[in-house]
Amino acid sequence: MALLHWRDNMSVGVEAVDNDHKHLVDLLNKLHFLRLAGADRASVGEVLEELLRYTEYHFEREEKLMESCSYPDLADHRELHQDLARKLWEYTKTFEDRPDSFDIETFYDFLSDWLLVHVLEKDMKYKPYVLGEVDA
Ligand SMILES: [Fe+2]
Ligand SMILES: [Fe+2]
Repeated sequence: MALLHWRDNMSVGVEAVDNDHKHLVDLLNKLHFLRLAGADRASVGEVLEELLRYTEYHFEREEKLMESCSYPDLADHRELHQDLARKLWEYTKTFEDRPDSFDIETFYDFLSDWLLVHVLEKDMKYKPYVLGEVDA
C-alpha cells in the first residue's frame, strides 16, 4: 500500500483533466492516511462516496473531451470507465452491506493501480488528439 504521487509524466496536457487526476490521487492518499490513523468508519465512507462521485464527474469530462476531438477509441475507453464505475460501486456496496468483507488496503491497492495504469496507458493515448498533433 504505497503512497501514490503525482508525476509530470502523468500529464495529458489539459489542465482541467490533470487537476481531476490530481484530485483523485489526493483522495486516495487521504484514504491511505485514514487507514494509518485507524480511521473511523464514517470518514472512510465519506472518502468512498467522494471517490464514486468524482470519478463519475471526471469520466464525463474526459469523454466529452475525447468526443470533441473525435478520438477514434472513445467507445473502448468509455467501457473501461464503465467497468471501473461498476467495481467502485461494488466496493461501496460491500462497505455498506458487509463491512467485515471490506478491506481498505485491498481497495486502495486496486484503485491506485487502476488509476496509475489507466492514466499512463489509456488516457495518454488521447493526448496527441486533444493537443491537435494527430488528426482523427
Ligand atoms: Fe480515462
Ligand atoms: Fe482520466
